[in-house]
Amino acid sequence: MVIIGATAAAVALAHGDVTPQAVDTHELPSLGEPWKAENPFRANEIAVRIGSSAFNQNCARCHGLEAISGGIAPDLRRLDNDCAVMKDAKRAACVAENDQYFLTTVRGGRSRNGAVYMPPFEGTLNQEAMWAIKAYLETRREKPL
Ligand code: HEC
Repeated sequence: MVIIGATAAAVALAHGDVTPQAVDTHELPSLGEPWKAENPFRANEIAVRIGSSAFNQNCARCHGLEAISGGIAPDLRRLDNDCAVMKDAKRAACVAENDQYFLTTVRGGRSRNGAVYMPPFEGTLNQEAMWAIKAYLETRREKPL
């Protein structure tokens, strides 16, 4: 797997584990299949705790500790920023749309022209772990909703 840029590699080393880490989600209700349309664990404190640890093990080396990006990868505290100016049903639809964008990105990763910018996590993280990470990121929003 090719990861772009010497800086990204250096940060990966600086933050330790480069191999994706499995996440223990047994404390959360099992979601089964299919994939949910939006985050079932919003504001779930157990999910936030598990998501925080899962984020630090799997995402922080590129997206920054506590989701504060050092500039190598997008700052995920801004993920729902565009929803903050909206209200009620519009806001809910905006957040749901971002949930799908999040899930698609995390499941499939990001590649362009044969280079992997972000590895796919499907097969390493289960659905519960991915939503737990989103629940954690929702506590780190730059513009709280
Ligand atoms: C090897 C570095 C790396 C790792 C590890 C990584 N990402 Fe990423 N991620 C990136 C890069 C780089 C991009 C921007 C990709 C692009 O330009 O297409 C990105 C994009 C994203 C986006 C889209 C952000 C946006 O504003 O468009 C999300 C969401 C995301 N990552 C979530 C995660 C989560 C959650 C994890 C951990 C499970 C993770 N990433 C692990 C490098 C990484």
